[in-house]
This record gives sequence, structure tokens and C-alpha cells, in this order.
Amino acid sequence: MKAKIMINKNFKLSEIDDRLYGSFIEHLGRAVYGGIYEPGHSKADKEGFREDVLELVQELKVPVVRYPGGNFVSAYNWEDSVGPVEERPACLDLAWKSKEPNEFGLNEFVSWAKKAETDVMMAINLGTRGISDARNLVEYCNHEGGSYWSDLRKKHGVEKPHNIKLWCLGNEMDGPWQVGHKTSYEYGRIANETAKALKLFDPELELVVCGSSSNQMPTFPEWERTVLEECYENVDYISLHIYLKNEENDLQTFLATPMGMDDFIDVVSKTCDYVKAKKRSKKTINLSFDEWNVWFHSNEQDEDIYKRQPWQVGPPLLEDIYTFEDALVVGGMINSLIRHSDRVKIGCLAQLVNVIAPIMTENDGTVWKQTIFYPFYYASVYGRGTALNISVDSPSYENKTFGTVPFIDITAVHNKTGELTLFIINRNHESDMELDIVVSGFEEYKIIEHAVMVHDDVKAVNSKENMNEVIPVKGSGLSASQGHITGKLKKLSWNCLRLSQ
Ligand code: AHR
Repeated sequence: MKAKIMINKNFKLSEIDDRLYGSFIEHLGRAVYGGIYEPGHSKADKEGFREDVLELVQELKVPVVRYPGGNFVSAYNWEDSVGPVEERPACLDLAWKSKEPNEFGLNEFVSWAKKAETDVMMAINLGTRGISDARNLVEYCNHEGGSYWSDLRKKHGVEKPHNIKLWCLGNEMDGPWQVGHKTSYEYGRIANETAKALKLFDPELELVVCGSSSNQMPTFPEWERTVLEECYENVDYISLHIYLKNEENDLQTFLATPMGMDDFIDVVSKTCDYVKAKKRSKKTINLSFDEWNVWFHSNEQDEDIYKRQPWQVGPPLLEDIYTFEDALVVGGMINSLIRHSDRVKIGCLAQLVNVIAPIMTENDGTVWKQTIFYPFYYASVYGRGTALNISVDSPSYENKTFGTVPFIDITAVHNKTGELTLFIINRNHESDMELDIVVSGFEEYKIIEHAVMVHDDVKAVNSKENMNEVIPVKGSGLSASQGHITGKLKKLSWNCLRLSQ
């Protein structure tokens, strides 16, 4: 079997916005308490932030982190999270049946983000709250001083404004599970009026309105149309969320699931453009894929925790332990984002630590990298620059859900340092794939790194006892000469191929 691929330096798809490689920290499970924050831990700094975790977040070069939710934000009072810690109330979080002690709040998160060398994407509560609370929060965060809320921030010991530019207008407001769930019209109206108020404060703010919480929602894509018709001119991005699963344990179908992400993006882009045309608008709404990942392993365990031990601080919720096949699917999801980087400007791997996350910790103990850490790491570090258009002629298989599925999934980035990076997945679990890739404009380029993830057992995982069971190794079998990359790609593998002059 042979796949023929053509890449041309001049056939540019889009500049990739660095924020495509963002992530997400929610007050959920052990993401905050026991994850990024654990005072008393031997590796905690004086603010209680775990330095071992910070190091791995820095390694991933995450450009932006969404916070504080998620479902959590929809009944959250941000004011409870600021000021003297001993005066902050402990609250019940209805979304995750947990107790929120508010020991770690807004200012702590901004401080953590600085140490993690990342920007903040802040979500506001449009579930139980509204315009007034949103504008107060923005004023608290971003105003220099001389007003009630900005002076309160100073009183709380934070002299300089946080200058947070990117804001989410609520979270998954289409979901009936959301506290304060709304119809598309109700939400479109409140989102528009909130957006108007925030832009009166600062027209430079970038605002993300909630799209559907998945493309399987019965209201998709009518939700997007109605919401955008209400708020089109006042918002900048619309959100998409997706979680893929392998509940039926069907490898062929699971490997094809990122194709659903491609469709989702296409439909949302078209819906935005429909509203644009209807409104005779000059403005284009781009997409913020601000929650995406594989999520299903922990569902049963979570039900048990809600039933038997609700209202704990930092319960072990959503602790999916990722397999080798999950890493292949995450690699496929990243390829989908890169392929649509002309339209998707922000992406958030949901989430970052402990909760459906690439980084896992043990309370009072160690930290380790899950299988999905690696495709995300390579994309974030080597996948910035210009995404190139690619012509792919790949052998394929037939799947009952996704139809014709190419075995080869590939993206190409001409990155900022002049390197050419290819991210290639071979979905064929039976045989290696012969490749013939023509790289026009890169004739002098040689392979400087070939990282490959392969494993005999698709269910293999990393754990604190065995941290390196599923890791990238040095690949072989491919060579580059005079504008051709040829050779064999291992069966069932994820690959990052870096080329330079
Ligand atoms: O990331 C976990 C949850 O998934 C988020 O809180 C919510 O927005 C989504 O349903």
C-alpha cells in the first residue's frame, strides 16, 4: 500500500494562531486542589503552586489557559474568590457536586499563569448571573484604578491590572445540565448585551460566545444561527466543544472520530458565514475550539463518587488514564485543528492537569505524563507558523459511521524557524504504509528528527509506576532527498517528522 502526498511551500493554508495550542483549568476534581496548587507539597513554592507541575506546563509551552470553567463557572461568584483567604466562603459547586473552599481564586490563578508563562482566557458566569457581574469582574481585572472594583483589587494586594484580553461569555449555555441553561434566543440576547457592556469598557477585548456543547446536541446548528443573529457584531469568536470516546471498543471507528471534528468545524464556519451574509456584515466570526479531548474512561467511577462521596474538596473526578490509541486520536484531533487553522484561532485541550489531562499528579507525591502529552507537546512546540495545503492520495478503509476513511492523516507546518514539520498518523493497524511525499520548495531539506509513537498494545498506558511505557521513540525507515520523502511509516503510529536545510 502506498500513499502519495504533495506539499508546496507556496500553497499556504493559513498562519496558525499560537493560541491553537491552549488548554484549560477548571475548578473541577484535582485540577486546582492537588493539581496546580498543593501547599505543603515538597515541590510547592511559597504561593502553594507545585513547581513539578509548572515545569511540565512550561514544557508544553501552553500559550493560553481557559479558567475557571467549564460547568463550574455557571453558578460561580467570582467575588468569593478574592480578598483575604480566611474571609472567603466555602461554597457548594453544583456542577461537580464538590466543595469549593475558595482558597485558590482569581488573583492566584493569574499569578500561577504568569509562572506557567501563559495567558489567561477568562470565562464569566452567564448562568446564574448577568451583565452587571460581568462588567464588575472585567473592571476588577483590567482597570488601572480609581473606581470601586479596581481599587478593591489594589486593596487585595494586586496593584497592576491583569489586562486579560480574551473572555468567554458563559459556558455551554445550550446544555440542559448547565445551571442557568437558556434557550438560544435568551442566551443570544444576554450574550449580546453583556458583550456590548464589555466592549464599552474596552473595545479591544476579544469575546467568545457559546456555540453548541457538541455537534450531537439536538439544537445544533440552529443554536449557532439564532445566537449569532442576536450578537454577531459584538462578539469575535464562537466556541465549539467535543469529547471523543471509544465506548464500543471499536478501534477502526475510534481512529476515525476526529473526522467528526472536521465536519463540526465546517458546519459552524458555514453557519457563521450564513449569518454574515444575512446581516450583510463585513466581519467574519472565527472559531474557538475551547474544549476538546478524549473523555470516557472515568465516567463510571465519577458516578460512584457523586453518589457515595459528594461535596469533597478536590475529589478524583474525570481522571481518565489515557491509552496508546487515545494518543493516536488526540494526534488526529490536533491535525483537524491545524487543517482548519484558517478559521479556528483558539484551541483548548481540556483539560491540563489531572482532569482529562496530559499531566497527572499524585497528592503529596509525584507527577507524570500521560500518553496524550506527547502529540500535544510536539504540535505546540513544532507546529507553529504557516499551515500548508496538502494534497493526499491515501489508501482507505470503509467504516459504518464515517464512510471512507483514509489510512493516512497528515498535516504540514512551515514553522517560524524555517523548519518543515509533518504530523502523520497511520490508521492502518495491519500493515506499514509506503509513503511518497513530494515537498516542493523544500528540496534541500533533510530529516532532523523523526519521533514516532507505536505500541503492540493499543490499551497500553503510562502510570506513576511505569511513566515511560508509551513515549515517542526515534523513528526509522523514512528518508528525504531532492524534495522527496520516501520510505515506510509504521503501522498504527503517530509521527512527527521535522525537516530543515
Ligand atoms: O471539561 C469538562 C466539562 O465538559 C466542562 O466543565 C464542560 O464545559 C464540558 O461539558
